[in-house]
Amino acid sequence: MEIPKDKIGLKGRVKWESPSNIALVKYWGKFGRQYPRNSSISFTLSEAKSITELAYEILPEAQKEYQLSFEFEGKENVPFRNKIVKFLDSVEDLYPYFRQIQFHLKSKNTFPHSTGIASSASAMSALALCLLDMEKEIFNKSNLDINAASLLSRLGSGSASRSVFPTMGLWGKHAEINSSSNDFAIGYENQIHDIFKDFHDDILIVSKEEKSVSSTAGHALMDGNPYAEQRYLTAQNNILRIIDALKTGDLDVFIEIVEQEALTLHALMMCSKPSFILLKPNTLRMIELIQAFRKEHKIPVCFTLDAGPNIHLLYPHKYLKEVSIFVKEALKPLTKDGNSVLFDSVGLGPNKLEF
Ligand code: DP6
Repeated sequence: MEIPKDKIGLKGRVKWESPSNIALVKYWGKFGRQYPRNSSISFTLSEAKSITELAYEILPEAQKEYQLSFEFEGKENVPFRNKIVKFLDSVEDLYPYFRQIQFHLKSKNTFPHSTGIASSASAMSALALCLLDMEKEIFNKSNLDINAASLLSRLGSGSASRSVFPTMGLWGKHAEINSSSNDFAIGYENQIHDIFKDFHDDILIVSKEEKSVSSTAGHALMDGNPYAEQRYLTAQNNILRIIDALKTGDLDVFIEIVEQEALTLHALMMCSKPSFILLKPNTLRMIELIQAFRKEHKIPVCFTLDAGPNIHLLYPHKYLKEVSIFVKEALKPLTKDGNSVLFDSVGLGPNKLEF
């Protein structure tokens, strides 16, 4: 695709907010060009978002170096800028015309930066949406193609592919799910019971330390993991079981799978070489308390984890009152500084913003 001559000198700006997501069946292990070893499915979140604006200008010709400035939370950020340059380089075969553009990017997150919350999903999906919205304007396209947005997000960060859809996203080819693909995620909002549509995710920040293993390095460790093949089979089976539970509203099966997936993710890290233990004593303490609360009060709360020590507490909206008291009295004191809970819930996906 070449930029039409009459577009040289064109200036424009676009702004998008895009959410983070929390996986229920985890993506852990990849191959080739950012393809997942198994399918994954996630809730799109509502509060944890990146807000990115892109001001662009079409240059007379392609440049050897990408022309790009990047500000994060009001300050020029060279490490993040370099990551984006690397990303643009990696998609050069698909978007060669990016070299003919002067980019000014500004981004911020709605959640505190050093909470250990994965920001790559929201950041890369917000960036991909800005880039494709710009493409729409340069090439006079009528629509922004959501599959292309998911694909470009994926090339930035695998989990980001799922963030562009409202409510839920499913990514990764599954033999028994027709429209599933390794290239991009698919929206999964229409196939789920109402109880999941306003699920809560209270994020309990146990530690704000930088992760000792990046997710990219973590995925790579799956290549030498002796349990890897079994893991991929289990994940594909868990996908089938969870989509059935999502459809019927079977919370018992949902809880069983979600907690097993979280613990399996960490078990895989613990038995990789080198091994990583990312759980902290208070993570385990909270897990015990959550399981005991569930049993004692017959309230369907469960936990999941990312590649870090923080607990995501998942529960249906109708139990908000009881769970809020439990969080305040039992879990919050175990968080970092005794006061680190982010209240989130299932959300409606990205939005284009006005200036
Ligand atoms: C544990 O999407 O952050 O959160 O593709 O290398 O950017 P890259 O990895 P990333 O991995 C996320 C792993 C996870 C599970 C999940 O979100 O499915």
